[in-house]
Amino acid sequence: MVTAILVAAGSGTRMGADKLFLPVAGCPIVGHTWRRFDQSPCIGQIILVTQPEKREAFEHLAATLQLTKPWRIVAGGAQRQDSVWNGLQAVTTEWVAIQDAARPCTSAETIERTLAAARQSGAAVAAQKVTDTLKEADAQGRIARNVDRTQLWSVQTPQVFRADIIRRALAEVRQRGLHVTDDTAACEIIGQPVVLVECVEPNPKVTTSADLPLVETLLRGEALTRG
Ligand code: CTP
Ligand code: MG
Repeated sequence: MVTAILVAAGSGTRMGADKLFLPVAGCPIVGHTWRRFDQSPCIGQIILVTQPEKREAFEHLAATLQLTKPWRIVAGGAQRQDSVWNGLQAVTTEWVAIQDAARPCTSAETIERTLAAARQSGAAVAAQKVTDTLKEADAQGRIARNVDRTQLWSVQTPQVFRADIIRRALAEVRQRGLHVTDDTAACEIIGQPVVLVECVEPNPKVTTSADLPLVETLLRGEALTRG
């Protein structure tokens, strides 16, 4: 059994708004993400990690989504890693898929393939190869050197783990007072290998308003394909 943790307790500072409730393609961003995990055959239940004062808004949203899987709401923390930690306390299954609620285009196939890879090794993450040419800058904002991108990936979500592994990794991070921007970085700290699963379709995270047109286009396009 797999539990999905949707981390949705951020404050949207870079967007300058409560980005998760911005309507895109007819539904709040977090509604798209929630529906995708609800509809994934791999997922048994869903934990939403939210700011406590947003609970009611999420409950109202749930009522509009025609959900089929059990779900519950857990209070988030100051940093993303604290929100994941709080969500993990409510997980009773052997496997957990951690997803940015702000990433509404994740496909069923990506969820399935990331889970399959994690089952082989304990931990896996959806990722894309870096395609832009990369440069390192000097203090004056000039190019200092070219960076070889052949081994570089940008990691996304879902990040899928055996629950005991990610619990142990984040416990270590907390004990040492470290800051990690994602859960695979916590695995690195305990020496747990994480498999990169190449995500073939766009899987963007909504961070600033510049991300909205692409996400709108992707979600509308899919709605048309589904008819
Ligand atoms: N998140 C969370 N708890 C936090 C911080 C972030 O659950 N304390 C969640 C966000 O809601 C989002 C995901 O982690 O779904 C990725 O974070 P990000 O894109 O950085 O969102 P925000 O933190 O809300 O945005 P910003 O950094 O611009 O404030
Ligand atoms: Mg953030």
